[in-house]
Amino acid sequence: MRDVVTEAPGTLEVRGLSIAHEGKVLLDVPHLCLDGPGPTLILGPNGAGKSLLLRCLHGLIQPDRGRVCQNGVLLNASHKARQAMVFQRPVLLRRSVAANLDFVLKRKSMPRVQRKPRIDDLLAEGGLDGKARQPARSLSGGEAQRLAILRALALDPETLFLDEPTSALDPSATQMIERMVLRASAQGVRIVMVTHDIGQARRLATEIVMMQAGRVVEQGLARQVLEAPKSDESRRYLDGGLVT
Ligand SMILES: Nc1ncnc2c1ncn2[C@@H]1O[C@H](COP(=O)(O)OP(=O)(O)OP(=O)(O)O)[C@@H](O)[C@H]1O
Ligand SMILES: [Mg+2]
Repeated sequence: MRDVVTEAPGTLEVRGLSIAHEGKVLLDVPHLCLDGPGPTLILGPNGAGKSLLLRCLHGLIQPDRGRVCQNGVLLNASHKARQAMVFQRPVLLRRSVAANLDFVLKRKSMPRVQRKPRIDDLLAEGGLDGKARQPARSLSGGEAQRLAILRALALDPETLFLDEPTSALDPSATQMIERMVLRASAQGVRIVMVTHDIGQARRLATEIVMMQAGRVVEQGLARQVLEAPKSDESRRYLDGGLVT
C-alpha cells in the first residue's frame, strides 16, 4: 500500500521517565527500549499507565522527568512527523470519508493529481470503497476506526501508536483492523499498540510490554511472556486474576 519502503524505524528509547500528580506516581519507567521488528503490544490493568506511556512516546505530553529518544537523539519535531497515533475513540473531521484522507495528504503537500489515486488505494485497503462521499461521522464504529487508521497510514509513518483501537468493536470489525495492523507491520511500520485483549496480543505481538501501577513489570518476546511470564504481576494479569 505504501509507495516507498522506508528504512527500519530504529530504536525508540525511554530513560528515567516519570510523571507524578498530587504526590501519586503515575508513570515511572527507568528504561524501556523498543527496537524489535514486529508489533509491540502493551498490556496491563486499567490505570497502569499504558496511555500515558504512549502519549510520552508520541511527544504529546512532557514527562516531569526523563526523556524519549529515537536512535539516540531526543525526540524532535521531525521524528514526531513520522509518527501517527490512533485513539480508542476515533477523532474524525466533520467532512466526508474521502475529505478526511485528503486533508492529511494535502498537509503532506501531495499534489492533487496524486491524491485521488492514493485515496482510492487507502479506501480499498480499509474496505471502505463505496463510502468515499459518506459523512465520516455517520460511519459505524468499526468503519470509523478503520478510517482513523487509514488517516494515520496516509502519513506514511515510521511508527504507528494505537491505543485500544478495537476495544469497542465486534469480532469481525476487530479482525479487519488486526489485518490492517499486520499489513502495515509487514510493510515496515513500527506498531506500538495497547490492548486488554490477550487473544489479540497472541495474534499480533512479536514483543510484549506488561505494565502495572505506572511501571513496566516485564518486557519480552510475546511467546515467552504469554506462555511463561517471569513476573508475578504478568502471571496474575494473564490468569485473569485481580491485580491490585
Ligand atoms: N491528566 C491527568 N491528571 C491526573 N491523573 C492522570 C492524568 N492522566 C492520567 N492520569 C492517571 O494516570 C494513571 C494512568 O492512566 P492511563 O490513562 O495511562 O492508564 P491506562 O493504563 O491507559 O488505563 P486504561 O486501561 O483504563 O486505559 C491513572 O491513574 C490516571 O487516572
Ligand atoms: Mg488507556
